Amino acid sequence: MTSNTANSVQILVVDDEPDLRTLYELTLLREGFGVETAETLADALQHVGERHFDVVITDMRLPDGLGVDLIRHLRAQQRRERCVVITAYGSAENAVESFKGGAFDYLTKPVDLQQFRRVIASAVHDAKASRNIGVAARDVEFPGNAGEAALARLVGESDGMRLVKERIVRVAHSMAPIMVTGESGTGKEMVASAIHANSHRGGGPWIAVNCSAIPENLLETEFFGAKKGAYTGSSQDREGFFQAARGGTLFLDEIGDLPLAMQSKLLRAIQERCVRPIGSPQEEQVDVRIISATHKDLATEVHAGRFRQDLYYRLNVIQIVVPPLRQRREDLPALCAALLRRIALESGITVPRLPTMMLDQLALDPLPGNVRELENLLHRAVALSEENQLQLEPSSLQPLIREAAGMNSRTGPPEDDRTALPSDLQRYLDNAERAILIKALRETGFNRTAAAARLGLSLRQMRYRIARLHIDTPNNGDGANEPF
Ligand SMILES: Nc1ncnc2c1ncn2[C@@H]1O[C@H](COP(=O)(O)OP(=O)(O)OP(=O)(O)O)[C@@H](O)[C@H]1O
Ligand SMILES: [Mg+2]
Repeated sequence: MTSNTANSVQILVVDDEPDLRTLYELTLLREGFGVETAETLADALQHVGERHFDVVITDMRLPDGLGVDLIRHLRAQQRRERCVVITAYGSAENAVESFKGGAFDYLTKPVDLQQFRRVIASAVHDAKASRNIGVAARDVEFPGNAGEAALARLVGESDGMRLVKERIVRVAHSMAPIMVTGESGTGKEMVASAIHANSHRGGGPWIAVNCSAIPENLLETEFFGAKKGAYTGSSQDREGFFQAARGGTLFLDEIGDLPLAMQSKLLRAIQERCVRPIGSPQEEQVDVRIISATHKDLATEVHAGRFRQDLYYRLNVIQIVVPPLRQRREDLPALCAALLRRIALESGITVPRLPTMMLDQLALDPLPGNVRELENLLHRAVALSEENQLQLEPSSLQPLIREAAGMNSRTGPPEDDRTALPSDLQRYLDNAERAILIKALRETGFNRTAAAARLGLSLRQMRYRIARLHIDTPNNGDGANEPF
């Protein structure tokens, strides 16, 4: 960094301890930054009222308030300052509070100066990135189209998904470590990549690593890299995931599967923000944002001694839980449409429609593997159907759904969850009634009279219910016994 560019960076330091204030100030001046200081919250508010800074470093506990109040004030005014909070050691809640308030990053006391310099360098880098692309303060929330596009790809307007999207936007623009949890196939990786796309690192690398897929003896090399000659036959330096993700995001998928020995090394790399490649005498600085994901219950893993508690706290500052499909059934129509569109685009065919009755059936008994399973099912259904068909054949879908749902008994959600109270009883009952009517109709070859008899209904009642629930039937003949 030339002193010229560094000089243009202005930092505000807020701390009531004169010694610490001086220490931070001198450290920053030595890096070539412009520094102003404030002793109290009121003093700090006055400073930011008079001018803009690139970075604000504030102690959490100030004589007349909290550092996070200053951050909230800046956020409310949609200011672009990157805020770093200094909190007392071990107060995880403070870190969470800070991030929720809009902090960029945090440091714990006693502050390690080397780490201090790294965190500030990263905040300055981020502040400059936003300045260089000339975004207005408001646009910091939505930098460019990539972020919005990533959110749009995340289909779903249910309350659960809306909450997920809100959180993505809120936390994207910070260094907050994020843990994405949820059942298999719920869209955890999509959520993580939307966070990346919505951050100022969106233009930087996105490195996704499946921790469970790497052999244990290769983990260290894969994560931290290796110097030439570190192993017999290695003739070149090798970059690790951390180096590859510099300036971007490292996504650690299935973090719960990382062996304990590697967990300590990872913790160190995250804490120190530097790694030592195998065979190298030197550590390398890495400015990387970490997002992790797991379908395991990590708290249980910690309890069982399979996951380090300190690493768990470090990674789990902010948690985003992606809800399973059965808790957001209202997303099914939009999801099916989007997935079919994607599949059709990939295979160059006309986008087929899913028959309403199939949607109803899926809504009643969602697939155990969530969106991934739904996507697989639709893929297979498209492959089985005739080219450029406008609607998927219920007859070809049926066995696929049954097959997928058959796995329910083995991999389905726990009983108490499945019998949870419905949030909309009428809707729930309608869905149940619809599925029963469809079943009876199917079993009688769509003979309404026979189906009515099976259910102890008159034909009139049957017709009424079919009409009320908008059930698609292949024919209108009440007596015809045509194969479907
Ligand atoms: N909300 C969504 N909108 C559109 N597609 C989605 C959505 N959620 C998931 N998908 C699709 O479903 C598939 C599974 O998603 P993803 O890989 O993100 O899930 P995951 O939770 O990481 O799964 P796993 O636990 O198996 O690793 C992907 O093909 C993804 O594109
Ligand atoms: Mg995944």
